[in-house]
Amino acid sequence: MEKPVDSGVPSSEQKPASQRPETPDFWDKRFAEGVMPWDVGSCDGLPQAFRRFFAARPASRVLVPGCGTAYEAALLDGAGHRVTALDFSREAVAKAEAQLAGWGGTLLCADFFAHAPETAYDLVFERAFLCALPRKLWPDYAAAMARLVAPGGLLAGFFIVGEEAGGPPFACDPARLEALLSPHFMREEDELVGDSLPVFAGKERWQTWRRRS
Ligand SMILES: C[S@@+](CC[C@H](N)C(=O)[O-])C[C@H]1O[C@@H](n2cnc3c(N)ncnc32)[C@H](O)[C@@H]1O
Repeated sequence: MEKPVDSGVPSSEQKPASQRPETPDFWDKRFAEGVMPWDVGSCDGLPQAFRRFFAARPASRVLVPGCGTAYEAALLDGAGHRVTALDFSREAVAKAEAQLAGWGGTLLCADFFAHAPETAYDLVFERAFLCALPRKLWPDYAAAMARLVAPGGLLAGFFIVGEEAGGPPFACDPARLEALLSPHFMREEDELVGDSLPVFAGKERWQTWRRRS
């Protein structure tokens, strides 16, 4: 077999962890330095679609994966939902802890892909999580969501849709998103978000996906 040519460019695996978004170190560094262009800054900063959707929903068991500062988790807890929020970055969890002081939910410092609750959730809330994952992890994301959302339940939230190659944010081509999720979910809502943060403007879509029974 021919020896591969060394191009001199480090492969993703050779880069330090703080430059690889599949590791907690990458996110720890950004939270610690306050470089968080995705962060809405307060519970009031979330796009309107979030409040519109949850205003009409009965209380249920909700997972917020890759929760970051976890503003949504605070709002959902306040509205009576039973919320589990998780993130694998210790720095993110420290910020979430401060923000969630006195709440009634569960906050875990854990890897989403290893999360194995006894019961699946009624709803998993997505925001800036799929687009934080390198594309090679997207099939694992879809498989984990299929496992974590109960039949008839929902995967709902904000998806970053587009054709750009780089990231994060890793935008997802619409056809690829459909191919990833449609084996286990049926899309029910899809609309462009008009009040996005600059980093997501023009490519953020509110979508809901119903878990097939
Ligand atoms: C772009 S931030 C978004 C944070 C939050 N969802 C928000 O909207 O502000 C992505 C988050 O996903 C977390 N994350 C990435 N991969 C993860 C994994 N495998 N398990 C748990 N958290 C993960 C990161 O630590 C980071 O907090």
